[in-house]
Amino acid sequence: MDRLKKIEKKLSHKEEEYIRESKLLVKHSEEYESLEEVFNKPTLMSIYKLMNKKVIKWVDGIISSGKESRVYYAMGWKGELALKIYLTTSLEFKKGLIQYLMVDPRFPRIRHDTFYLVKLWAKKEYTNLKEMYSKGVPVPKPIALHNNVLVMEFIGKDGLRAPLLREASLSNPQKIYFLLLNAIEKMVREVGLVHGDLSEYNVMILDDSIYIIDVSQAVPITLPISIELLKRDIRNINNYFAELGVEIISDEEILRRCTEVE
Ligand SMILES: Nc1ncnc2c1ncn2[C@@H]1O[C@H](COP(=O)(O)OP(=O)(O)O)[C@@H](O)[C@H]1O
Ligand SMILES: [Mg+2]
Repeated sequence: MDRLKKIEKKLSHKEEEYIRESKLLVKHSEEYESLEEVFNKPTLMSIYKLMNKKVIKWVDGIISSGKESRVYYAMGWKGELALKIYLTTSLEFKKGLIQYLMVDPRFPRIRHDTFYLVKLWAKKEYTNLKEMYSKGVPVPKPIALHNNVLVMEFIGKDGLRAPLLREASLSNPQKIYFLLLNAIEKMVREVGLVHGDLSEYNVMILDDSIYIIDVSQAVPITLPISIELLKRDIRNINNYFAELGVEIISDEEILRRCTEVE
């Protein structure tokens, strides 16, 4: 056996060990059946890398199971974390999502294999989070990205995630409404992005503060499709707060505040 082969063999043996180790650290998930689907080899390798880099200590139970991704609770060296793992087997990526990537000038080169697209999609959410967080838009702090695994600040306390806007009983809905309008405006004016999937399902409420989540599909305001998306975001938020009995500002006025050139 030549030297290179020996090294390769050693490496793949080590790789197997890494995977065994990572699997042990992915403790008692409530979803045993989907474990293999989520924690396949590339994903386990990514988690191992993040452990090696001292980003994650261990991964625990599932927080949420969506079509394209799963969110897991994890522990880092400085506290609680949320791991958003994009499913490398998800067929959803082959359908609608590609169209958003194709028009985004920040991601000019698109290949069509699924793993590549899933990685790119995770990168898009990470990039959007970073751009928003750096300008003070209330989103979970992005911590790290490796392939299809995105690590961010955990919104919640002691392993219990904060309620979504949809689930929260608000002591001061008017205040939360204004916080959200400010966030939407800041996103457009200072970051240049439109969320595109904003609703009571993608906002979390913790200690009377808001956190906007699920920003993977956010698109630059310079793109023609962004205005329709922005109108829909505004409509969703206004409908929700109107139902709560909050005095709302008209859709047109909010749109004007977001887009008017001063
Ligand atoms: N940073 C976070 N901290 C705690 N829980 C989170 C966090 N991010 C997402 N979640 C939970 O995971 C769910 C799904 O996340 P989300 O990003 O909205 O993905 P999707 O809706 O595409 O499945 C959310 O509704 C929320 O309950
Ligand atoms: Mg969501």
